[in-house]
Amino acid sequence: MKIDILTLFPEMFSGPFDYSILRRAQDKQLVKIDIHNLRDWAADKYKSVDDRPYGGGAGMILKVDIIDRAVASLKSQASNPKIILLDAGGKKYTQEKAGELSRGEHLIVICGHYEGVDHRVHEHVADEVISIGDYVLSGGEVPAMVIVDSVVRLLPGALGNKKSLAEESHNNEEIEYPQYTRPEEYKDWKVPEILLSGDHKKIEEWKKFRQ
Ligand SMILES: C[S@@+](CC[C@H](N)C(=O)[O-])C[C@H]1O[C@@H](n2cnc3c(N)ncnc32)[C@H](O)[C@@H]1O
Repeated sequence: MKIDILTLFPEMFSGPFDYSILRRAQDKQLVKIDIHNLRDWAADKYKSVDDRPYGGGAGMILKVDIIDRAVASLKSQASNPKIILLDAGGKKYTQEKAGELSRGEHLIVICGHYEGVDHRVHEHVADEVISIGDYVLSGGEVPAMVIVDSVVRLLPGALGNKKSLAEESHNNEEIEYPQYTRPEEYKDWKVPEILLSGDHKKIEEWKKFRQ
């Protein structure tokens, strides 16, 4: 899979993609993640990417021409990418959507900033507009990290243990069962006895029906 991220703040991504499952997935070449600075597509000598909103209002809006040029140039390097715009007003992100995106070959993720993005990007450039929740963040960078992490861990081979994926929360609308490790007792907080019983059939039943 290929993931391109368009952002005004590429430096924000150093770190989150360099550890754990995301690092290993890149090392195993299951995914190639490229971070692009939107300013590279700016046309003027000041590299400006935003402007004041028509009709007035607070803050600055990211320009449609710059985003369109950036997306077009990334599109030309691959076949059939899915263009995702991050927006607090978009469709709510779910595990089901993560699964759907993980089955694609190429994602281009547009991170907004400041007051947001010229609405023509929603109308003419993006295939999907996604929100990671009902709150407003300063930019699309953290949402992009959330989406990349949740998608990449679903790629075949990204997790060593396939069984753990099948049992994870939100798979089939269920929440994973509670898990414990040593010590058996800490203060007077005890691990449920059934898990110590060695009775695998009963343990599997407990995992399924404990709620
Ligand atoms: C400060 S926000 C803009 C908020 C916008 N004025 C509004 O009221 O919805 C700047 C950017 O952060 C991103 N963003 C903020 N909250 C988000 C969320 N919950 N999900 C996805 N993206 C978000 C979007 O890319 C947005 O363009």
